Amino acid sequence: MTGEDRRRWDERYADMEPPPIDAVGPPSLFAAHADAFPTTGRALDLACGQGLGAVWLARRGMDVWGVDISAVAVAHARDLAQRSGVADRCRFDVVDLDDGVPEGPPVDVVVCDKFRDRRLDHAILDRLAPGGLLAIVALSEVGAAPGPFRAGPGELTAAFGALGRISSGEGEGYAWLLARG
Ligand SMILES: C[S@@+](CC[C@H](N)C(=O)[O-])C[C@H]1O[C@@H](n2cnc3c(N)ncnc32)[C@H](O)[C@@H]1O
Repeated sequence: MTGEDRRRWDERYADMEPPPIDAVGPPSLFAAHADAFPTTGRALDLACGQGLGAVWLARRGMDVWGVDISAVAVAHARDLAQRSGVADRCRFDVVDLDDGVPEGPPVDVVVCDKFRDRRLDHAILDRLAPGGLLAIVALSEVGAAPGPFRAGPGELTAAFGALGRISSGEGEGYAWLLARG
């Protein structure tokens, strides 16, 4: 990612108040499937933003690693984990996913909420432990104008077709998939 893009994300987060604890929760498109997420094990949140989903997983009992390009978002996420009493189960790092998924052990959950980079698909599949859960939401061309960061029709279900689908859909500019390895 260019320095300018990184600065743009930092500025966007610097303009936001640190999120309140009651904003913590699962990716909104999976709220109806919250019980499908485990309460133990390891989770990886790619492009975690301010850590709302990551801290929710930690509050459920998981050990969570959240990564994002924005140092401001990562600082907000660390602060949120501290205020939520789960700092000991959370790690947040500044990582550029243009360089790939950071190395680490297999995980029981991968969350990727409103971030899409097709180059990461294989690494995401490889990273999931047997029976692991993928929760991915992308901007979609379905119900919106085409764009370079938008998933095409059926893209998520095709890319992750090796997993067992729990929930999926697309419309109004979003595509989502919840699936288990
Ligand atoms: C739309 S936000 C979603 C944030 C969070 N997942 C959520 O749902 O609230 C997209 C996120 O992707 C991050 N991002 C963009 N490009 C990235 C990259 N190359 N590597 C890591 N993070 C990136 C941004 O900083 C931003 O936090």
